Amino acid sequence: MNFLEVVKRRKTTNGPFLPDPVSTEHQHLLVEVAAMAPSHFNSQPWRFVLVDDRHTIEEVARISGESMTRLLEEGTFWKRYRPYFRFSEEEMDEKRDGIHFDQMPGVLKPFRRQIFSDAGQVVMNRFGVPRTLGEDNRKLVAGSPLLLAVLLDRAEYRPGELSGFYSVFGMGAAVENIWLTTAAIGMGIQFVSTPMEIPENWQRIQDLLKVPDDLELMAVYRLGYVPEEQRRPTIDWSSRHRKRLSQYVFRNTCEEPELAAEARPAPS
Ligand SMILES: Cc1cc2nc3c(=O)[nH]c(=O)nc-3n(C[C@H](O)[C@H](O)[C@H](O)COP(=O)(O)O)c2cc1C
Repeated sequence: MNFLEVVKRRKTTNGPFLPDPVSTEHQHLLVEVAAMAPSHFNSQPWRFVLVDDRHTIEEVARISGESMTRLLEEGTFWKRYRPYFRFSEEEMDEKRDGIHFDQMPGVLKPFRRQIFSDAGQVVMNRFGVPRTLGEDNRKLVAGSPLLLAVLLDRAEYRPGELSGFYSVFGMGAAVENIWLTTAAIGMGIQFVSTPMEIPENWQRIQDLLKVPDDLELMAVYRLGYVPEEQRRPTIDWSSRHRKRLSQYVFRNTCEEPELAAEARPAPS
């Protein structure tokens, strides 16, 4: 695959990975490409923990699944992320951002637009949706052969100061290098983010990883090799759409949206 193909193919893996362990060669490649990223004054504020210990992976999976169930049962997830949810191709085509819930059990489809109301929440809880999704999430994480924790050096990561912003910026570049590389070597990657949303659960992950005081745990990912045939989870989304050029690019000032070549008026 050439570089542009890799960029276009990079994506988030929502489904399961193959159980095969990730080779040490690939694990080291991922953290080496991360370190190629730019950072302020070449400070390289990122740190990584490669986790292939089964017990630790299963513990993280348990915390992740529990967090998912709790966020869904309490409605926090739906309320917090409502602006990003789309329920039809038409909606997706108009906005061209967000995530499209295009896979859900038939029994829930009639309620899909109501899930944000209190009544919808009751229905979701009655059908056991939070537990189903929490268990799906636990299995996905537990079935991953590798987790990757991303941390920042707190000497550089000082929230509210410019170096805090720079550190996050550099970390984003480092993670993108990893993300792109997974696409090039037949691997997949997904955020394990639900524990982050519940401070005591995030603390449990930090304790498991024995994060010292001079480091800040920023993110945890699950990784593995991607099967040829992807089995989709019970409730799943797709997010391949991207905004049109005119929705996010301007020419010269922020007042003039850039038009795609085909949308430009023909020269008179
Ligand atoms: C800061 C950040 C947070 C994200 N959080 C999650 C997450 O919690 N769970 C998840 O599955 N994907 C997460 N993603 C992945 C996005 O959902 C995904 O990149 C987006 O929907 C576009 O899909 P794609 O990566 O397949 O192109 C996150 C991405 C970023 C950059």
